[in-house]
Amino acid sequence: MWLFTLLLEVIRITAADAGQHWTYEGPHGQDHWPASYPECGGNAQSPIDIQTDSVTFDPDLPALQPRGYDQPGTESLDLHNNGHTVQLSLPTTLYLEGLSRKYVAAQLHLHWGQKGSPGGSEHQINGEAAVAELHIVHYDSDSYDNLSEAAQRPQGLAVLGVLIEVGETKNPAYEHIISHLDEIRHKDQKTSVPPFNVRELLPPQLGQFFRYNGSLTTPPCYQSVLWTVFSQRAQISMGQLEKLQETLFSTEEEDSELLVQNYRAPQPLNQRTVFASFLQVGSPYTTGEMLGLGVAILVGCLCLLLAIYFITRKIWKKKLGNQKSVVFTSVRTTTEE
Ligand SMILES: *[C@@H]1O[C@H](CO)[C@@H](O)[C@H](O)[C@H]1NC(C)=O
Ligand SMILES: *[C@@H]1O[C@H](CO)[C@@H](O)[C@H](O)[C@H]1NC(C)=O
Repeated sequence: MWLFTLLLEVIRITAADAGQHWTYEGPHGQDHWPASYPECGGNAQSPIDIQTDSVTFDPDLPALQPRGYDQPGTESLDLHNNGHTVQLSLPTTLYLEGLSRKYVAAQLHLHWGQKGSPGGSEHQINGEAAVAELHIVHYDSDSYDNLSEAAQRPQGLAVLGVLIEVGETKNPAYEHIISHLDEIRHKDQKTSVPPFNVRELLPPQLGQFFRYNGSLTTPPCYQSVLWTVFSQRAQISMGQLEKLQETLFSTEEEDSELLVQNYRAPQPLNQRTVFASFLQVGSPYTTGEMLGLGVAILVGCLCLLLAIYFITRKIWKKKLGNQKSVVFTSVRTTTEE
């Protein structure tokens, strides 16, 4: 009995150990996540590659309103290197309006690539990744007490995804995070950040977005996330991107592995539908197809015009013929008088 208890304890510890250690590449990399975390092998995983010509336009998707983002209180916010990402905790005074329940904020974090390599975002649009991605994680506070409880329930979480691209100027909102990275270079280090306007991390226009049911993009990959990925992107400077790529380490040791390429590959869409709040970004047709379509329409119009012309001419001629005969008969009748 005692031995049995001991054995159970050993199994529990080993399982917990296997459960705690995961990376993006290598023997504990993303291909191996499902072995330790079964949900990572599920059929509604995130991120995905959003094919814009296969999304379903839903005119009834209400606009998302971030509330309380402008003024996240007076308390400073915790910024944490957890070995997988840099994470900022958020107060529950920040919440989302426009979903079927009230989703309050819990934390935000970033995903990025490696200096000199393309890619870095988790979601892709038509097969193309951005250089980084911001995730703002919220949970359904109408139904659940806290994040960890909600994270295991269908639609327990609502995450905003913002694709980030490189622009000309330093983004002052992102600087509130990036300027503190030096204080948390190693795993498990924490620092405090003065509250700032979190709304400014988002792109200016929030009206155009994609919506689908998916998962956490890291183990345990719970399939509990209602995703909103904005079409418009946020911009940071090249300097800010490089700071993000070159400052943090994924372990506690000095000069260990840089914390880079912390993004998961796109997962199969399977039977899911991706909804869009807007009609196609670009045209669903290529330039060649557009040209072909244009020529076809032109030729069609010409044919129609020609047909109308000939028909009218025929009718006109017939009418003219009738009139002539009328005139002729009338002339004849007058001369006969
Ligand atoms: C979250 O809520 C559940 C259920 O109310 C509770 O059992 C659990 O201890 C809470 N967890 C945290 C981290 O507060
Ligand atoms: C997500 O799944 C729920 C439950 O199956 C469904 O009611 C809802 O319409 C889905 N939402 C999206 C955006 O696919």
